[in-house]
Amino acid sequence: MAVMPKIIIDCENFNMEVKDAILLLHPILAVIVVFPLIGIIVNRALQVRQRRLETVETGKSKITPVVGKEHVQLGLWLTGSVVGIVLIALGNDVFGNLIDKQVWSKSPFQVIFIGLLFVVTIASLYLLYRAKDAKWRGIFATLSGIGLVVLGCQDGVYRKTDQWYISHYYYGQLAALLMIFSLAILPDIYKDKTNRWRKVHIILNCIALLLFIGQGITGTRSLLEVPLTWQEPYVQMLYEQKCDTQSCQVQAHSLSPKP
Ligand code: HEM
Ligand code: HEM
Repeated sequence: MAVMPKIIIDCENFNMEVKDAILLLHPILAVIVVFPLIGIIVNRALQVRQRRLETVETGKSKITPVVGKEHVQLGLWLTGSVVGIVLIALGNDVFGNLIDKQVWSKSPFQVIFIGLLFVVTIASLYLLYRAKDAKWRGIFATLSGIGLVVLGCQDGVYRKTDQWYISHYYYGQLAALLMIFSLAILPDIYKDKTNRWRKVHIILNCIALLLFIGQGITGTRSLLEVPLTWQEPYVQMLYEQKCDTQSCQVQAHSLSPKP
């Protein structure tokens, strides 16, 4: 059974700082932009499928052909916004760590390299949107995917590898990679008369949908786990002293005594 730690906090200023606002940018965009988009996209996906199957069977359908166009247009937005919020979260983790450890003064090249990685990932995704040829779509999809993975491997990212099966990081990265893949195979879905790419798209995006649901759950848990700036030193002490498994005492004013 978890033992309750004794916490004595003697602070007067609990204001939110810029750092906290940056941290909240990712969940805010997920809730306001990404999840509503997913709702509409799934609705249109079901209509596209129903329309296609009805047309194959009876030669006509009451569902308007516009649903296909809407699904794809919003799908394009979804890919950009999912990759965007992943980059915001990774940027917050990685640059937060670089600043905390003052890496710029010790190894500026590492900071430049990481900055360039962000630029290359965003540029590759932009070029993937523009690419028509299958070869270039493959190249830019691979580059943007590698960019996300290498950025995710940097220090400061909370990966929870020991619990990868419920990790917000692994679910999020995989969902973003699946979105990039959807964008890369987009023209093939239409070209392929055997519907092979269409089936690949359906299977992979049903998995993506499950991952998005997982992101809603694990992300909300992350919000409870990540402390606000003023709470950070105390919460850090709770983790260091393993307060979830043993009795401990954390005295906040011993860290920053009141003048
Ligand atoms: C949660 C995400 C998504 C789900 C669950 C999903 C699911 C589906 C389903 C069920 C279909 C209908 C297949 C059929 O005809 O039987 C479809 C079609 C399609 N999807 Fe998605 N999709 C998702 C995201 C995306 C994204 C991000 C893109 C592009 C960037 C995209 C591009 C397409 C295209 C091009 C079609 C063919 C549309 C047509 O025939 O008019 N989808 N999708
Ligand atoms: C499309 C959905 C989402 C994706 C793809 C996604 C992806 C990610 C990734 C890759 C990270 C970095 C790894 C980490 O620090 O854990 C992250 C961090 C985080 N996410 Fe999400 N997320 C999504 C939705 C959400 C939602 C709905 C919430 C909360 C309501 C949320 C809250 C957070 C928090 C608090 C962090 C930690 C930020 C930090 O340490 O700087 N996420 N997310």
